[in-house]
Amino acid sequence: MDKNRVYVFDTTLRDGEQVPGCQLTTVEKIEVAKELEFLGVDIIEAGFPISSPGDFQSVVEISKAVSEPVICALTRANTLDIDAAADALRFAKRKRIHTGIGASDMHIKYKFNSTREDILKRAVDAVKYARKFVDDVEFYAEDAGRADNEYLARMIEAVIAAGATVVNIPDTNGYCLPDQYGAKIKYLVDNVSNIDKAIISVHCHNDLGLATANTMAGVMNGARQVECTINGIGERAGNTSLEEVAMILKTHHAGLGLETNINSKRIYAISNLVSTMMRMPVQPNKAIVGRNAFAHSSGIHQDGVLKHRENYEILNPEDVGIATSSIILTARSGRHALKHHLERLDYKLDKINLDEVYQRFLIMADQKKEISDADLQQLMGDGDEKN
Ligand code: KIV
Ligand code: ZN
Repeated sequence: MDKNRVYVFDTTLRDGEQVPGCQLTTVEKIEVAKELEFLGVDIIEAGFPISSPGDFQSVVEISKAVSEPVICALTRANTLDIDAAADALRFAKRKRIHTGIGASDMHIKYKFNSTREDILKRAVDAVKYARKFVDDVEFYAEDAGRADNEYLARMIEAVIAAGATVVNIPDTNGYCLPDQYGAKIKYLVDNVSNIDKAIISVHCHNDLGLATANTMAGVMNGARQVECTINGIGERAGNTSLEEVAMILKTHHAGLGLETNINSKRIYAISNLVSTMMRMPVQPNKAIVGRNAFAHSSGIHQDGVLKHRENYEILNPEDVGIATSSIILTARSGRHALKHHLERLDYKLDKINLDEVYQRFLIMADQKKEISDADLQQLMGDGDEKN
């Protein structure tokens, strides 16, 4: 394994699709899966086959339609779930079963009414059983974020010995702080004797708005698979957003030296596709793909960005598939932004004229949220020359 390669595991069609109102038909899921393949994700979690006949069928059809990424199916740690997953994956060229069980004392006691030893045995048995069907088995230690590190390390060592190829350390409830989560991954790296036989995966939820930060903390401490969704959709406050992690790794490539296979120029298109299909609007200030992610509206920033784009842009919008950034005209805009837009519309003004037009522009802008091209034409309609 290349130690600088970070594998991208997309769970938009499983953890993302669990969100109320986001359910997709099999045909829609195939369309998203194909776009994920073009985007360059390494693993597509296509569903949870035992959960419903529709989900089972979607995993079957995605397995047929997509050939490059590994197709993954989720199970709980029991034979019926694993049988269903193996069956649903039968057409996949490259397949993975993702099985697991709760690892925190909270889950062991209140979800399973069980003991640490019993849960550890069930984890090992599930991995061994899944390995009868596929060579690639990912184990998830649910609620690992709140689990005792010493017990978690024992569990991870045991499942790797049982044949797990990837070990997923989910912060299921989005509880951890980045330094705590990073330290947890480091603890496993330092204390699981066979850890080099598996890839460590990070799966973070966003309950405290820390999913991306925690994912990065995991990567910095040795995780080499990131589990994410497009636009960060997912249970409750969502999962780690794929576009954020992909662009962090790209932007900091020189410092971190880590690579993904993501073709970032396809990010904006798939963000729109998922948002439209799942009827989940993207918040305007969402990093990377929000409507305002490349929009400049204050006079100081507009002046700076017009002098040199990188004064206020650390990302190139073209790199995520957005044609250009935008300078929005509002009552906070300055003369430089106004001149820029007037010149774009072919109006040429000397300094005196610009001052005069700017005063009238401010009066107009105070009445409106945004000034459009039509507003500018109206503003220039009273006497100024259009070249
Ligand atoms: O958040 C979680 O723990 C999960 C597991 C099923 C991987 O989604
Ligand atoms: Zn999850």
